[in-house]
Amino acid sequence: MSVGNSISLREWLRRDTAQAHARVDALFGSCDFATEQGYTVFLLAQARAWETLRPLLDDDSMARADALRRDLETLDLPEPEPLRDVSLPAKASLGHRYVLEGSRLGSTVLLRELAASSPELSARASAYLTESARIEPWKQLSTGLQKDRDGCDNDGAIIDDALFVFGLFEEAWRATDSAQAKIG
Ligand code: HEM
Repeated sequence: MSVGNSISLREWLRRDTAQAHARVDALFGSCDFATEQGYTVFLLAQARAWETLRPLLDDDSMARADALRRDLETLDLPEPEPLRDVSLPAKASLGHRYVLEGSRLGSTVLLRELAASSPELSARASAYLTESARIEPWKQLSTGLQKDRDGCDNDGAIIDDALFVFGLFEEAWRATDSAQAKIG
């Protein structure tokens, strides 16, 4: 698809992944942080995705995945297995990185929500959200994407990569949700 120079790569990504974002927002946003159970499901589902994506992560993302492992340990939760049958690319593209870095924006909202609804949990096990709310790496990526008015002309691969990561978080949610349902 060619959209000329009318919109930046950032806008293009945001527009073409809006529905995928709305889906993960609805799923992960359904966790009630006022209860340890709600926060637990959130962490386990996120961890399932991050553990799957580990081979692709740069240092900034790896810090988030490691912080998430620390929260699981603090809460005596098992580290989830990576999702099966996912074929990862050899390295992360701009599309993959857009989704991972962009998810920091939601984390700032969630960190505030956790502090307000469960101060004790927030003090004890918020390493992941705290690391994720560090938005400097997102700002750097986003500035580059905003300046890029040619990227959209390449091909749809960047969008496909972004949708792949969103889809993986959705799949991680469903895998966790059904595991919890069996226990509950
Ligand atoms: C409870 C779950 C979530 C909430 C409440 C949430 C909330 C938000 C908010 C408030 C923004 C900023 C929107 C703006 O400034 O226009 C945002 C952006 C974004 N989020 Fe989420 N989010 C959630 C989950 C996720 C997940 C799981 C991912 C991906 C793994 C994700 C990826 C993104 C991306 C890529 C952006 C940047 C969009 C842009 O280009 O501006 N979000 N989110």
